[in-house]
Amino acid sequence: MSTIDWSHLQERAAAVMQQAYAPYSHFPVGAAGLVDDGRVVTGCNVENAGYGVTLCAECGMVSELVAGGRGRLVAVVVVDARGEAIMPCGRCRQLIWEHGGADCVLLTPEGPLPMREVLPQAFGPEALGKV
Ligand code: THU
Repeated sequence: MSTIDWSHLQERAAAVMQQAYAPYSHFPVGAAGLVDDGRVVTGCNVENAGYGVTLCAECGMVSELVAGGRGRLVAVVVVDARGEAIMPCGRCRQLIWEHGGADCVLLTPEGPLPMREVLPQAFGPEALGKV
């Protein structure tokens, strides 16, 4: 955890937050993830007149991760309009789990926490192989 440049990651999240399309909630969100090969992938929320179709910022981040050659998320920061760290919604914790797993570290409002604490007893790929 100590080797992660949280300030840089938070700045990247705040920068992409400025690109958010959030005309309905007026709650722009930015997400930035450090990949195990050193890349930083980012995303912003993209809302829709069909409210339920909204794409969270983390969706864009994961899309860039996979489109850019995959890799594992090592650290993730999600920010609000103030640039402050927020907790990802439940669905997005699941997205981060798939591509980062238990050891991926999330910057929470209370400081960095591993995903094993943010999403305890998570449902993951290994569960599919047990039955
Ligand atoms: N939002 C995200 O982008 N990520 C989250 O983890 C929480 C919520 C977005 C969805 C919607 O556009 C707005 O924040 C308000 O819910």
